[in-house]
Amino acid sequence: MTYEFSRSFLWGAATSAYQIEGSPLADGAGPSIWHRFVRTPGLTKDGDTGDVACDHYRRMEDDVAMMKRLGLTAYRFSIAWGRVLPEGRGAVNEGGLAFYERLVDTLLDNGIEPLATLFHWDLPAALDDRGGWLNPDVADWFADYAGVMFRRLDDRVKLWATLNEPWVVTDGGYLHGALAPGHKNRFEAPIASHQLLRAHGKAVQAYRALGKHQVGLVVNIEPKYPASATAQDLAATRRAEAYMNRQYLDPVFHGRYPEEMREIFGEAWPEWPQHDFDLIRQPIDFLGINYYTRNVVRHEETSWPLKAVPVRQNQATYTETGWEVFPQGLTDTLLWIKKRYGAIPQYVTENGAAFYDPPAAPAGRVVDPLRIDYYRAHLRAVHAAIQQGVDVRGYCAWSLMDNLEWSLGYSKRFGLVHVNFETLERTPKDSARFYADVIATQGAALAGGG
Ligand code: BGC
Repeated sequence: MTYEFSRSFLWGAATSAYQIEGSPLADGAGPSIWHRFVRTPGLTKDGDTGDVACDHYRRMEDDVAMMKRLGLTAYRFSIAWGRVLPEGRGAVNEGGLAFYERLVDTLLDNGIEPLATLFHWDLPAALDDRGGWLNPDVADWFADYAGVMFRRLDDRVKLWATLNEPWVVTDGGYLHGALAPGHKNRFEAPIASHQLLRAHGKAVQAYRALGKHQVGLVVNIEPKYPASATAQDLAATRRAEAYMNRQYLDPVFHGRYPEEMREIFGEAWPEWPQHDFDLIRQPIDFLGINYYTRNVVRHEETSWPLKAVPVRQNQATYTETGWEVFPQGLTDTLLWIKKRYGAIPQYVTENGAAFYDPPAAPAGRVVDPLRIDYYRAHLRAVHAAIQQGVDVRGYCAWSLMDNLEWSLGYSKRFGLVHVNFETLERTPKDSARFYADVIATQGAALAGGG
């Protein structure tokens, strides 16, 4: 088998603001819900915070030079809303905005295409005080913030994503409470989802008025496969799939929620006015897919709210976050999107794995064969989808470097580049060299190895 990607295919790596930047209150920034969450005892592993993280805020130029050395042609980052608008709305903080202007300029000077995400979970705390994603006004707050960014950077940024993974915001932040703002409330979760979608729609409208390039949405998709052909397992699989994979995309592309949502949430599932769906259903230019794993699903009456649980696959490799390595699921996902939602351009905006990296064997090296296998297999899976007619335009590895894995703190390492969290020294892992090779050969290097 030979592998070749088109010349215009973007080869990137992804990060997010709170996970790498550090200096969360520098230059007039306002605190985010994550700044508060990590300061609440017991909520993050070992009490880890993003106060320093990778110190990217102060080492940005060096980090971009590192990206250039790896041969990246794209970089996906997120903008911390509270750096730009410390109160979440109102006065613009030029000090914070200047950081993202410098980042974009530095990327462009190095021939790296910026992909900007407007929201990767770090809602300004001042907005959370007003109800955050539960307050219907959040759609206007978000669109106003988006407008500030479009006015300032659309002359240089050609690819914009509104939200990163609305499902995680709702599921982790409002239903199970494992992520900021840490609520556990079945009645809140559907409201948060809906306001996230309205905010997305309003930001797309703002983009049509102010921007000249492309705007899209980033969702995380985990294909769901039934553990057996029993009616119960098939129904459980449909619920799991509706909840995670269709809850956001059906409204955006088809203007309605999946019917399973009512079955899942029961009396907590509200009715929404039609004009909300007209807003949510704005045409978008591309879809970003974050893919990590799949689920094999079995019915389980006591599991709330889905009555569905994942079944462990005995023969499979699992990552350090307990996710099955299943590359075929990425091909399946890209094909499924095309089949269900049409021929929209797709980017794989995140894909990667946390593995335990053995201590550097020869000095200066981090030997991570499992991560190399993961990337090789998943890039081949992207190639297979392209061969089958899916318009995939780029790929971003998660992550450029080891960083704060949210509530799991620094205990899980997803980076292509190793970060020593004491000295902050960066060391490209063997997987980074592998990825650099794939990029330099336009995919041909995928032919070698396992
Ligand atoms: C998120 C990242 C996160 C990664 C690994 C994605 O859901 O967008 O912020 O670090 O998964 O868990």
